[in-house]
Amino acid sequence: MRLAVLASGYGSNLQAILDAIERKEIDGRVEIVISDVEDAYALERARKHGIEGVYINPREYEKREDFDGVIAGLLQERQIDLVILAGYMRLLSPPFVKQFEGRIMNIHPSLLPAFPGLNGVKKALSYGVKVSGCTVHFVDEGLDTGPIILQEAVPVFDDDTEESLHERIHQVEHRLYPKAIQLFIEQKLRLEGRRCMRVEK
Ligand code: GRF
Repeated sequence: MRLAVLASGYGSNLQAILDAIERKEIDGRVEIVISDVEDAYALERARKHGIEGVYINPREYEKREDFDGVIAGLLQERQIDLVILAGYMRLLSPPFVKQFEGRIMNIHPSLLPAFPGLNGVKKALSYGVKVSGCTVHFVDEGLDTGPIILQEAVPVFDDDTEESLHERIHQVEHRLYPKAIQLFIEQKLRLEGRRCMRVEK
């Protein structure tokens, strides 16, 4: 299976995916990593693994659709089966979502539908929840609103800071995201409305 990763930052989830591929826990290959941030460490990680890392400057495009169109073109050329958002800080435009419908995944650092959007960890902490976590979901046109594939809870401790809680959540993300990707590859996910069910093949 041909995978593409879109990332804007540090790329620890990308790294977890690449490591899982090396351990043969994901039966696929990352063909390309695309970033909207020139010095994103995710691009560096890609190149270290001999994977094509492409920076596209969003400021060169007037419309979001045009910027996304360039990305879509690169993905099509490489015949990408699954688009993986890993810390990608942009909302995808409707035509892009439509083109790759059911084939875009995202990971979010909260138990959705709680605390969608930016700063999910900070929002959960200041709300005072005792349990947070992370969510892998399919991407639709909304902000973190697509069907949920996997979720896992993470406890919140009294002495947590945003950093310490995010670090604990990250550790779970690094396990959960590769697992969701492999379920997709094995065609073990089936959608019934909003519900994403696991099927044995
Ligand atoms: C993760 O916490 C993910 O849930 C969110 O952005 C963060 C990306 O971290 N979407 P990294 O760049 O993969 O280290």
